[in-house]
Amino acid sequence: MHRKSAALPNNHTHLFFLCCSLLFNEASQEIVQEQITRVLLERLIVNKPHPWGLLITFIELIKNPRYNFWKRGFTSAPEIEKLFESVARKLEMEYVDMYLVHWPVKLKEWASYAVPNEQDFVQLDLEATWAGMEKCLDMGLCRAIGVSNFSSNKIQRLLDFASVPPAVNQVEMHPMWRQDKLREVCAENKIHVSAYSPLGGPGNSWGSTAVIESPVIQSIALKHNATPAQMGYRHFDTAKIYGSEAALGSALTEAIHDGIVKREDVFVTSKLWGSDHHDPVSALQQTLKKLEMEYVDMYLVHWPVKLKEWASYAVPNEQDFVQLDLQATWSGMEKCLDMGLCRAIGVSNFSSKKIQRLLDFASVPPAVNQVEMHPMWKQDKLREVCAENKIHVSAYSPLGGPGNSWGSTAVIESPVIQSIALKHNATPAQVALKWGLSKGSSVIVKSFNQERMRENMASFNLKLDDEDVIQIDKLKEWKIMRGDFLVNQTTSPYKTIQHLWDDEI
Ligand SMILES: NC(=O)c1ccc[n+]([C@@H]2O[C@H](COP(=O)([O-])OP(=O)(O)OC[C@H]3O[C@@H](n4cnc5c(N)ncnc54)[C@H](OP(=O)(O)O)[C@@H]3O)[C@@H](O)[C@H]2O)c1
Repeated sequence: MHRKSAALPNNHTHLFFLCCSLLFNEASQEIVQEQITRVLLERLIVNKPHPWGLLITFIELIKNPRYNFWKRGFTSAPEIEKLFESVARKLEMEYVDMYLVHWPVKLKEWASYAVPNEQDFVQLDLEATWAGMEKCLDMGLCRAIGVSNFSSNKIQRLLDFASVPPAVNQVEMHPMWRQDKLREVCAENKIHVSAYSPLGGPGNSWGSTAVIESPVIQSIALKHNATPAQMGYRHFDTAKIYGSEAALGSALTEAIHDGIVKREDVFVTSKLWGSDHHDPVSALQQTLKKLEMEYVDMYLVHWPVKLKEWASYAVPNEQDFVQLDLQATWSGMEKCLDMGLCRAIGVSNFSSKKIQRLLDFASVPPAVNQVEMHPMWKQDKLREVCAENKIHVSAYSPLGGPGNSWGSTAVIESPVIQSIALKHNATPAQVALKWGLSKGSSVIVKSFNQERMRENMASFNLKLDDEDVIQIDKLKEWKIMRGDFLVNQTTSPYKTIQHLWDDEI
């Protein structure tokens, strides 16, 4: 990155970090970013422009920022030393980690500008220049010496007389200028190749957007970045009543078609709405049509609530309820399984008592109970009952559903959750999700935001310690999705909230 002005513009900083993140693995990225931040903060770069311009190399930033300067025409050690003194003064440093011959080009001494004029060139005496470079090393002004923009031939020539071989050759290198031959020659001679313009230098007058706009590069980026499936999400939770089955179906069909995932790699859950309890098979067949699939992996009874056949909307009216015949509904679910329309069947929003009731007659016990579960609604009792009966508990609204009309930010804004997040350098959402995962539950988190999708995925990497769990255990319990819309004094079988949840609220 060329620095000519006094301030480092934000977009350059950003680009800088972006480049680093493309070039380093995760661990070294952190170190690099830390280093860059430190250097920027110390204002070594920001307020220290100099006549040659400053290049910050991306690749050599792991332990120390290394600087690379315009160096032209200085053939003797005293001249280089003089140059170095002024550089060192400007940098307020005693040494640089790496000093490079910028180009295999010698210019007249006054030609100290980026684009030489025609009459500025003199014959390069590489041997003399290199002797000056080795003198810098001897004097401790730099820790290593190298070259930049050297071809394989020039490298070979230099090696013929160098007492100290170059440690580095810094050259243009990116997916459209891969330097295969040069890298081979350098590798044979233990010379590290440092890649400049790794993005093809877009934004520079001489640069190009060809690399970052290359369809191949873009499609690879897309593959690793863009959709939930591409980010690694494999469990997709939908339901007739969400109206999301068709959208999920077409997204997954496309992902499968593009080879991003195979059908057998994803786990699709959908749910039977109350108005379909009379015929789960037809309901699931309609669901499969929308999903463009032959089967779902899991089909759940959405609520222990039966509605009239036309009540196919999220919030039933008072007169829409009919008496639930759970045995009949469950036998329809088992039929779905027999017919191969789903791979497993389960329930959702079932209390321990309703689970026990279902187990009394079920030929196939439910595989899953999907319920509200987060650090403020821990479901201790229900999880115990389910564990005894080998029923997996899947946690919905694992963040407390902050964006929903009925939801709350209480979980992610809880001071306890926030302080645990701070302690682990994580986010409150990651703490809440990891808590659910640590209880052996699957967590069904929703986000329309790619950054948050990534953030949520990274909760797998977080480790909560015993003290965190003790603190979370002390949080006040608060059921956020209470289900008031399923309770009324007329047609609903549930006259009170306590009745709906069998006093487990
Ligand atoms: N079986 C059932 O009866 C039932 C009931 C409710 C939900 N569910 C299932 O559970 C899923 C999730 O439940 P939910 O949406 O109620 O609750 P949730 O996942 O706890 O919360 C979702 C909300 O949190 C926000 N969010 C996501 N990641 C975040 C982060 N890292 N930091 C801050 N905010 C974040 C989202 O906003 P952005 O989109 O802006 O990121 C969204 O508004 C649903 O999609 C559904 O599949 C099932």
